[in-house]
Amino acid sequence: MIHANADYLKLPGSYLFSTIGKKVAAFSAANPDKKIIRLGIGDVTQPLCPAVIDAIHKATDEMAHAETFRGYTPDLGYEFLRNTIADKVYKKLGADIASDEIFISDGAKSDSGNIQEIFAADTKVAVCDPVYPVYVDTNVMAGRTGNYDEATGLWSNVVYMPCTAENGYAPELPAADQTPDLIYLCFPNNPTGATITKAQLQDWVDYANKNGAVIVYDAAYEAYISEDDVPHSIYECQGARTCAIEIRSFSKNAGFTGTRLGFTVVPHDLKDADGVEIRSLWARRHGTKFNGAPYIIQRAGEAVYSEEGQRQTNEQIAYYMNNAKYIMEGLKEAGYTVSGGVNAPYIWLKTPDKMTSWEFFDFLLNEANVVGTPGSGFGPSGEHHFRLTAFGSFENTVEAIDRIKKL
Ligand code: MLT
Repeated sequence: MIHANADYLKLPGSYLFSTIGKKVAAFSAANPDKKIIRLGIGDVTQPLCPAVIDAIHKATDEMAHAETFRGYTPDLGYEFLRNTIADKVYKKLGADIASDEIFISDGAKSDSGNIQEIFAADTKVAVCDPVYPVYVDTNVMAGRTGNYDEATGLWSNVVYMPCTAENGYAPELPAADQTPDLIYLCFPNNPTGATITKAQLQDWVDYANKNGAVIVYDAAYEAYISEDDVPHSIYECQGARTCAIEIRSFSKNAGFTGTRLGFTVVPHDLKDADGVEIRSLWARRHGTKFNGAPYIIQRAGEAVYSEEGQRQTNEQIAYYMNNAKYIMEGLKEAGYTVSGGVNAPYIWLKTPDKMTSWEFFDFLLNEANVVGTPGSGFGPSGEHHFRLTAFGSFENTVEAIDRIKKL
């Protein structure tokens, strides 16, 4: 008889944002008259910008004629998009990334979940705590994380790097007896909104090169960086080509959460202990398991980097960061301890009166009808913290914060 994958059965509860979705749906059903404001999942609310919409219309028309119709997309993604990214993202940063090192995908979530597949089963994984749950959950599914301890909320075979107020929410290098093989870093950070400096990131690159480890660098929020000395890409660091994979998204910088587009960079110089090019495994995986992001959406992605596209998407980012400012200032006025929100669309706050993260979630939902994300959902070091997103509309953000201030 068939048996379910035992590693999947180890996963406690449901995916964080599904759990929240269920709770909110139940509250909404019981309180149909209440206007709920959702500042939980980091989903955008502004429409796709005109340059992107024009590109979608144009590409859609091409699909309507035999001469310009496109079927399956090339394995790595269309050259027009890969060349544009190499030029407009990496060359601009002074980073040496060739277009055949760029793999177009249907988004950063899939890539950050799938990337672990190309590494050995006994790969030791290190994550920040708190952390975007996808990195841990997908390694659990792959049977790499050992056993879950209900009491601590930790997996026995994962190296955790606590990110707390004490260390400015920046992870410290793992202890000497805990050398990981695969290190997940996300900056600007989800969920804390914290950043690290270029010098700090260089330390990680040096550490990875010294120990033969690989860094998976999730730069999904780089468009929100407003301060100097915060790196936009790990390839700004010396030596990153031999130790780093970078994952990027079009969701947060251009509003593609519903249209799905992202990419992953795997340089040719990244090799395993036996000299195997890691890139060749990712290419093999793409060829076997993925049939490409739609042509229409890849054209939309290209339009993000046009002059108009850059101007329009920057306006959207400014809009969301204005929300972030309103949230930060409002919560500070109300006496909350807040961080993030300056280089990231996430505001990280300490819960009042020693409430647990989930107690505060219920309190906010019941009393202010505002949805946020409990910090403990991202890992044990997130306990007594809470995340609000700046991705709402300005009007809703103002209303939510004004309701919280009145509590
Ligand atoms: C989040 O809320 O953490 C993000 O929206 C999740 C994601 O990008 O998948």
